[in-house]
Parts: sequence; structure tokens; C-alpha cells
Amino acid sequence: MDLFAATENFAFQEPLGPGAILLRKFCQQEERAKANAAALLRDLAALVEISPLRHMVTPGGFEMSVAMSNCGALGWVTDQAGYRYQALDPVTGSPWPSMPQSFLELAKRAAQVGGFENFVPDACLINRYEVGSRLTLHQDKNEIDFMQPIVSVSLGLPAVFLFGGLERTSPTRKVQLTHGDVAVWGGSSRLNYHGILPLKDSLHELTGPYRYNLTFRKAG
Ligand code: SIN
Ligand code: FE2
Repeated sequence: MDLFAATENFAFQEPLGPGAILLRKFCQQEERAKANAAALLRDLAALVEISPLRHMVTPGGFEMSVAMSNCGALGWVTDQAGYRYQALDPVTGSPWPSMPQSFLELAKRAAQVGGFENFVPDACLINRYEVGSRLTLHQDKNEIDFMQPIVSVSLGLPAVFLFGGLERTSPTRKVQLTHGDVAVWGGSSRLNYHGILPLKDSLHELTGPYRYNLTFRKAG
């Protein structure tokens, strides 16, 4: 118990592969930077008032079980026409809300700790998982510059993250992601397949029945 208390605010670093690292509890470490997990969740709540969470449809015509929105200059969308980034939210017809300072600072610092200097994300995908929601194995490859890493922040309920390799059939690692954890992957891991197993039914003190994930990218 004491050991846990003493190490609670420490970001444990766990290598996931070349250029890929898991920063455990990284958000909690940001207490003084005003970018801790609770602050991120407050900013998130304001963002989804402007651009609501919605279930998008894949090019194949399936509704995604994860509800999504975006902030930043570019937002990731999918519909029957395909996957892409765009400056306007198709639901509101307006630009996505700008990226809060708390989001930006956290993403930049995590990238830096992960070994990626000068990461300036222009896109943040907001994912909301409910019980049973999942994300099948995929690559993040709609961005222009694959030299820029992915920074992925977990908030609320825990989930099992699958982190594979360059082929869909590559062996995957199963990593439990919990509130405040940040994963950073780039370099030769940038195009690794990854996904999230179906969310288990539970309640989190800050997010209730949900898990949120913020995925920061330099898309344009
Ligand atoms: C993603 O791959 O876009 C999200 C991963 C996650 O929810 O942790
Ligand atoms: Fe992804």
C-alpha cells in the first residue's frame, strides 16, 4: 500500500518496441502543469458540447462501436467515401474546436519523453468506448508524415490494448491501459497494427461507464 502511494505519481516507462513506449500514469505526473487527467476530462467535456461524439460509419458500411469527435485544425473522419482528415466537422459544418492548451502541452511532453522532439500535433481524435466497444486491429496511416509519432492518452475505464507489428498477422502484445497512461509510438513502430479489445462493464470515478482515448497526430 505504501509502495503504491509513494510511486503513484511516477510515470513508469515500459518499452513496447523500437520507438514505442508506454508512460504509465503520465497524466497524473502533470499535476503542476494543469494538464492532469481531471483537467483533460474537463476540457474534453467542453469540446464535445461543440462537436458532439458520434458513431461514424466505415467505408464498408458498418457503424463503429466507438463514438468519436475531434479537436485541432484537422479531424479524422470515416464514411462511405473512406477514411480521411478534414478541417470541417461533417456534423456541424464548422471547423473542429481548437485543441486545448492542456491537450497540446501533454502531447508534446509525452512525445519528448518518448524521444520525439518538436512534435506539434494538428489533430486530436477523441474516442469514447462503452461496454462492448472495441477497435479492431488497424494501422494509423492517413497522415502525411510517418516520421511523426502517435501519442495516445487513456482516461477512465481500463482497456486491453493490442500492439502488433507491421503485418496484420504479426504477433501482438496485450497491454492493460489504465487512467492516465500514455502510449507513444513512432520510428520503426509507427505503422504497427494496434487495437482495443471489447471494453468490460465497470464504472470509473471520473468517467462512469466510459473509457476515453485521445490520439494526437501530426496529420497534415
Ligand atoms: C486508436 O487506435 O485510435 C485508439 C487506441 C486506444 O483507444 O487506445
Ligand atoms: Fe489507431
